[in-house]
Amino acid sequence: MASASLLKSSPVLDKSEFLKGQSLRQPSVSVVRCHPTNATSLTVRAASSYADELIKTAKTVASPGRGILAMDESNATCGKRLASIGLENTEANRQAYRTLLVSAPGLGQYISGAILFEETLYQSTVDGRKIVDVLIEQNIVPGIKVDKGLVPLAGSNDESWCQGLDGLASRSAAYYQQGARFAKWRTVVSIPNGPSALAVKEAAWGLARYAAISQDNGLVPIVEPEILLDGEHGIDRTFEVAQKVWAEVFFYLAENNVMFEGILLKPSMVTPGAECKDRATPQQVADYTLSLLKRRIPPAVPGIMFLSGGQSEVEATLNLNAMNQAPNPWHVSFSYARALQNTCLKTWGGQPENVKAAQDTLLVRAKANSLAQLGKYTGEGESDEAKQGMFVKGYVY
Ligand code: 13P
Repeated sequence: MASASLLKSSPVLDKSEFLKGQSLRQPSVSVVRCHPTNATSLTVRAASSYADELIKTAKTVASPGRGILAMDESNATCGKRLASIGLENTEANRQAYRTLLVSAPGLGQYISGAILFEETLYQSTVDGRKIVDVLIEQNIVPGIKVDKGLVPLAGSNDESWCQGLDGLASRSAAYYQQGARFAKWRTVVSIPNGPSALAVKEAAWGLARYAAISQDNGLVPIVEPEILLDGEHGIDRTFEVAQKVWAEVFFYLAENNVMFEGILLKPSMVTPGAECKDRATPQQVADYTLSLLKRRIPPAVPGIMFLSGGQSEVEATLNLNAMNQAPNPWHVSFSYARALQNTCLKTWGGQPENVKAAQDTLLVRAKANSLAQLGKYTGEGESDEAKQGMFVKGYVY
């Protein structure tokens, strides 16, 4: 847990500090065994040597009026996106699309962090600049998706678990050297399939182990147990499941000595299931979601960065705006993939002459969500495209 000195207010990560941090550094994991002769002795894990930096990184990402651009689609998912605009899933096409995103002029005014897939972390733009460097120039912290995806959970009700702990410490150290400063691990919980106690426990334990390993290697872990939108259930059922899931996640985060000041959360908003006939207003979504957060999330956590989960671009922005109508104990913001990229991707359509127009649409969405983070979004002038839902049954990321 955090030492007293960690609790002092720390400034955010500035660019020079960030670059200095990219030089080689040995992560240290210190385990202090107290009173070894006593059979009931406690094992206390000392704070990561990166503790101060983790706090600064988390505060930088959770800075006012900014949120995260999730652009970490796996190659398979990116292929589906490219297919939707008639492009082949080649490395060159993925590079062209990611170049467009990271080089949108002034993006850093609204975006504080970008989650990358491993290929992109090591990739250059089409004009030969390292993508990581372009992000840093834009004042955007690079992040990395570290989980290895979902597989069936044996012994469950057709549920899944998230792989990726094997070799995670060495991969995380390498990602840090490459410039990443935060990480993402997405696991899912399905309401129609249960969720079973086993699936919830497995999701929470995996997230906690990943979070501890990330912190030991200088990466701020984004903790993301996505409660899928799939199902006909009402909003009260989502609320009930979310309470259970977050109780368990924080139980295991604490058990694994994760420093809460150096994590970020990526929850689903509390909404009715996608196939539920009763829809919820942004005010209802905000009320339920904030009640959940207040009951389950300690104020030591600096930032809550919501996923969009298949909501339309406008819906995700309106819901975020509703949550920011009064001060919250945490920075309540966004970490959207589909709800930031959808109209941008369609506007681009793979045509070089559309790059500027596509970047402009990305900036429109980023600015709208920036205003929503500040509680100042009005919803005026939005396109019909931005109002279209993107829910896909059984969606895999
Ligand atoms: P969506 O905003 O499309 O749900 O993506 C969430 C995510 O986990 C991406 O990192």
